[in-house]
Amino acid sequence: MPFYHKLGEMPKVKHTTFFKKDGKSLYREELVSSKGFSGVYSNKYHYNLPTAVKKVRELNSESKVDWPEAPVLYYHCFTDELKKTGNFISARSEFLTNPHCTIGTARVTEDTDDFFRNAYAAEYVFVHRGTGTFFSDFGKIVFEEGDQFIIPRATTYQFKFDDYKAHNKLMIVESDTSFELPTHYRNDYGQMTEHAPYSERDFKIPEYLEPSDEKGDFRVIVKAGKKFFEHIVPHHPFGVVGWDGYLYPYVLNIKNYHPKVGRIHLPPPVHLCFRTQHFILCNFVPRPFDFYPGAIPTPYFHSNIDSDEVLYYVEGDFMSRKGVREGSITLHPGGMPHGPQPGKTEESVGAKETNEYAVMIDTYAPLRPTLNVKETLDKDYAQSWLE
Ligand SMILES: [Fe+2]
Repeated sequence: MPFYHKLGEMPKVKHTTFFKKDGKSLYREELVSSKGFSGVYSNKYHYNLPTAVKKVRELNSESKVDWPEAPVLYYHCFTDELKKTGNFISARSEFLTNPHCTIGTARVTEDTDDFFRNAYAAEYVFVHRGTGTFFSDFGKIVFEEGDQFIIPRATTYQFKFDDYKAHNKLMIVESDTSFELPTHYRNDYGQMTEHAPYSERDFKIPEYLEPSDEKGDFRVIVKAGKKFFEHIVPHHPFGVVGWDGYLYPYVLNIKNYHPKVGRIHLPPPVHLCFRTQHFILCNFVPRPFDFYPGAIPTPYFHSNIDSDEVLYYVEGDFMSRKGVREGSITLHPGGMPHGPQPGKTEESVGAKETNEYAVMIDTYAPLRPTLNVKETLDKDYAQSWLE
């Protein structure tokens, strides 16, 4: 919801008759709103009743991945080594979870005609590898590597990749509250300020998608927390002839994040990208290093007593960590101090720049690792600070 957007056809005035071409039957208006009727919203106009459902059944697709015995420890795992693959829905694999968010990945090797809707969570989807088109009831967005999708809760969508033989990979963060642009990046009128790390021009927003009035049996996979349900609906889910408002999926590519640089080390809030009520999400991108004589670019050891720190490594050589590579996840729990491994601090002194790309998620509630972390674990990581 960076700004007001409008696509397709709609009546001149909200909540008034809007007739189809036959001049008799009505398009169906749906208000999609947040925070009751007080948050951002959009008005959609459907060919058919958006509430029509023929059949519902629970699927057995939920994988049991809880790992209750996992100790509180430093974790590093190689998500690319997870064996599970599938389509953009079935490949979803949880790595870290708490009552407010889930961090996972999906290695997408198959296409599907199924549609997906997350009924309980807003989603951040990072396109690590692969290109294609995202289709939704708000329109389509052509995607490329580095794209960060913000998908409002209850959006119906599909990710269609150009090539299923490529190493397509998504990193997905589910949140029980919506992803927001930080308020201090916006002025009193909602416009991005001049000192924000991105501007309105950096967003990709939905483009017009020809609405479909097709009838039949369409399979929508609805996720509700840990459960998946199959809904068979009688109309094509993208039968929306027009919509307008502030609530819709949009994209910010990590390469369009304009970093801030300090004379001495600046803490992670300067890398802030999105926030929810229960965690923040930051972008680490290539940038010149701190330029004061003797400045140490790597972070000092620190204990963030109110948050767990997760990093998803995208590309480049990460300045403060040993052994991580593309697709690695590290978890440093809030109850323990963390910092660079032996040698990394000395190595960084005098360095002029970094070429790293990474996404950081700091959660206010402790995260629990799943069996997917156990399967892809770097067993030496927890002891990698021993000199
Ligand atoms: Fe940290």
